[in-house]
Formats: sequence, C-alpha cells, structure tokens
Amino acid sequence: MKKTIFDLLNRKGSSPISMLTAYDYPTARTIDQAGVDMILVGDSLGNVLLGYDNTLAVTVEDMIHHGKAVCRGAQEAFVVVDMPFMSYQPSVEDAVRNAGRILKETGCQAVKLEGGAEYADRVRAIVQAGIPVVGHIGLTPQSVNTMGGYKVQGKSLKDARKILEDAKALEEAGAFAITLECMPEALAQLITERAGVLTIGIGAGRYCDGQVLVYQDMLGYTGTKTVKFAKQYADLHGIMLEAFKQYKTECENRSFPGDEHTFAISEEIIEALK
Ligand code: KIV
Repeated sequence: MKKTIFDLLNRKGSSPISMLTAYDYPTARTIDQAGVDMILVGDSLGNVLLGYDNTLAVTVEDMIHHGKAVCRGAQEAFVVVDMPFMSYQPSVEDAVRNAGRILKETGCQAVKLEGGAEYADRVRAIVQAGIPVVGHIGLTPQSVNTMGGYKVQGKSLKDARKILEDAKALEEAGAFAITLECMPEALAQLITERAGVLTIGIGAGRYCDGQVLVYQDMLGYTGTKTVKFAKQYADLHGIMLEAFKQYKTECENRSFPGDEHTFAISEEIIEALK
C-alpha cells in the first residue's frame, strides 16, 4: 500500500521515519523493496548524478525527468520531488505553477523547497492548491553563494533563533514536514519538540522525527570523501571499480565471453554460408 501523508504524520514522536534520495527507477525500486518510508528526488542530482559543482543549474525538466522514473519504481514509499533553484523564488505564481507541473507530470506525493519565513507565502499557496509541501532549512544548498560555502548553520544565538522562527513559519504556512540540514543536534531537537509537523534530519543529529541521506553517500558510490554526517554502509565504488577492471582484463585476454555466454548454430549452416 502506498504510504500517505497521514501514515507519516501519525508516526511523529513514536516511530522514526527513514528517507533516502533516488534519481532513477532501479534505485527507487530497491529502496522501496527495503521498506524505506520516503524517497526524495533531490536536486542533489545536480552534484551526484550530473557532475555539476552545485545544485543551481538543475531545471524543472531535470526534476520531472528523474521524478517520473523514481515514481515508477516506488510502489509503497512516499515520493517527494525537490523544486529546483529559480522554480519558486521569483513569485508565488511561479511556485504554484511549477509545483503543479512537478506533481502532475511525475506522480509524486509532495514537493520540497528550500528557505524559511521568506518563502512561507509560496508554501501556503502551494498547499492551498492541494500539494503537500516539505520545507528545508538550516544548510540550504541553493543559497550556497550567500552562505559562503557548505557549513553547519545555526551555531550563534541569532542564527539559531532565525532557524527556530523559520520552522514555525513553515509549519504555520502548512508544510507537513521540514528537512533540517546540517545544524547542531540540540537545535534540531528543540525544533522537533516544538513542531507539530515532522522533522527530517540530515546532519541534524539523533532527535529528529526521521532521517534522510543521499544514497550515493551512504553507499560509498562516488569514491570521494563525503560529509561527516553521512554514515557509509557500503563501498559501492570499490565494488564497481573492481568489476570494471576485471571486465577490461577479460575482454583483453578473451576469457569473456565464455561458452555459457554464447549462442550456438549448427555447423552445416555455417558451412553452407561459406
Ligand atoms: O537535494 C537533496 O538531496 C536534499 C537532501 C540533502 C535533503 O535536499
């Protein structure tokens, strides 16, 4: 059965929620089969899939293309698709139109957008249009240029207070969940205790209502050092590298393809062809 917004909200304070990113059909299918509750088609695909330095170049078309594939693979998991940079920032109208396109064309269950009180009007309008919204505060990668890099957010009293106020503004605007990225654990805990909506943490410690990770980070897919908060559950890069090397060697020494990988034909036919 497809998970609903109410299945998720009912778990607040009792049963932690799991979420992973996915950007394609087979990964979504595997995550779904593992019973992970939510899948995020993150605009992180700009970095981990398309090779950009940041998420700013990602388009609505990119999100729809990957969102469609993920939705085809997610039978039970609740799918959230990110609204990319400049798809909601310019105006409330842009926000509703692009959220509507993403929902209609991908078949996802909700959209996510970055920013706090300054985008509460966008959140309110999208929710009024019947589209569930996940907020995203703390480290917001689309603002990398104003943040001056990817750093832990909310460490000073002023910054922590702003994040608390942002969480409240998003809840009041109707977001059903808020992603808390890269902030001190105790701040995320305070937000989680005060909020009536779900908090989903990434680098925000142990006390959020749920956790999300970029799957390439948790699988060790990229072969590069990842962020402190991303626990690595596998060394996929190492496994792939060894397999690709072995394939290359076997192509070169003709041990691939083997007898078991080839198709036979009667010798008479071959003779008749000569
Ligand atoms: O784009 C993304 O993958 C995200 C996560 C980092 C939460 O927004």
